[in-house]
Amino acid sequence: MTLLNIDGLSVRFRLRDATVQAVSDHTFAVRRGELLAIVGESGCGKSVLAHALFGLLPRNAEVSGRAILDGVDLIGCGEKRLAREIRGRRLGLVPQSPATALTPVRTGRRLLAETLRAHQRDPALADSLAEQVGLDAAALGKYPFELSGGMAQRLVTALALAPDPALLIADEPTTGLDRPLVDHTLDLLRRRCDSGGTVLLITHDLAAAERVADTVAVMYASRIVEHRPAADVFTAPAHPYTCALLNALPDRAFQPIAGHPPMLTALPAGCAFAPRCTHADGACATLPAGPPVACHHPLVTEAAA
Ligand SMILES: Nc1ncnc2c1ncn2[C@@H]1O[C@H](COP(=O)(O)OP(=O)(O)O)[C@@H](O)[C@H]1O
Ligand code: SF4
Ligand SMILES: [Mg+2]
Repeated sequence: MTLLNIDGLSVRFRLRDATVQAVSDHTFAVRRGELLAIVGESGCGKSVLAHALFGLLPRNAEVSGRAILDGVDLIGCGEKRLAREIRGRRLGLVPQSPATALTPVRTGRRLLAETLRAHQRDPALADSLAEQVGLDAAALGKYPFELSGGMAQRLVTALALAPDPALLIADEPTTGLDRPLVDHTLDLLRRRCDSGGTVLLITHDLAAAERVADTVAVMYASRIVEHRPAADVFTAPAHPYTCALLNALPDRAFQPIAGHPPMLTALPAGCAFAPRCTHADGACATLPAGPPVACHHPLVTEAAA
């Protein structure tokens, strides 16, 4: 059953002399119990997508399209309804920058207890939530400024989990963690989905997505270029960009992608990957349709059907 239905979602930032196309025409659904990983290089629009869903965009942002979560349009419902009914129980966010998200004058334990209480949950759950994210009792007694980056990361994850949200958006939740804690956090998200929760994992770490995702959406220059089951994406990528991303991994070909992504203020009319793509031809001057694969010459043809 579908929990989140995104239809034609776009976000633009108006600057004095340019427009940044940060999210372009996203259409996808997330099922209950699904772990969808959104992957792509830094700057492609992943966090802007998360902020659009959570209603956290600055005033210069223009958002169009719809994002229906459990019957409510997150884009059109307004800040009051988002604050009163949506954020917390229905939608949680692990933000990408934990340091700026934490109130500095309260200890972790107090922040957690307050969040639990605000959502009619037992404040005594603070310690077990901390344990779930791998934060010990001593760390929970500290103020945010006393925490390392990795500890702050785990605390914001625990805070997002505290209201037990139907959909959890986790934006780079493993930043600053060492490998065992990365795996611990990823496995926590996986277990959440296995027990009926739903997670949108935003990450630039393909190995993280491969470890836990059911489905993967690959973003390039603000668009979703491939959206397929994780097993298919990692064994038989269909979009040349996905293939290049995988080939850049140290445990695969370790071949960096030549060139750079385009500026989001100057996106071409056709495929934005064309200048870096070895398969490009004249057809690529027009925008390819998709998903599941937005490419005129997909590497796996049945995926584009
Ligand atoms: N408030 C803003 N005004 C103008 N541009 C912005 C704003 N916020 C983000 N951007 C731009 O949107 C693009 C996507 O950013 P972001 O979503 O943070 O990338 P990612 O999370 O994929 O690394 C970037 O080019 C960034 O500079
Ligand atoms: S549409 Fe053309 S340029 Fe774009 S990824 Fe496909 S083959 Fe390459
Ligand atoms: Mg980001």
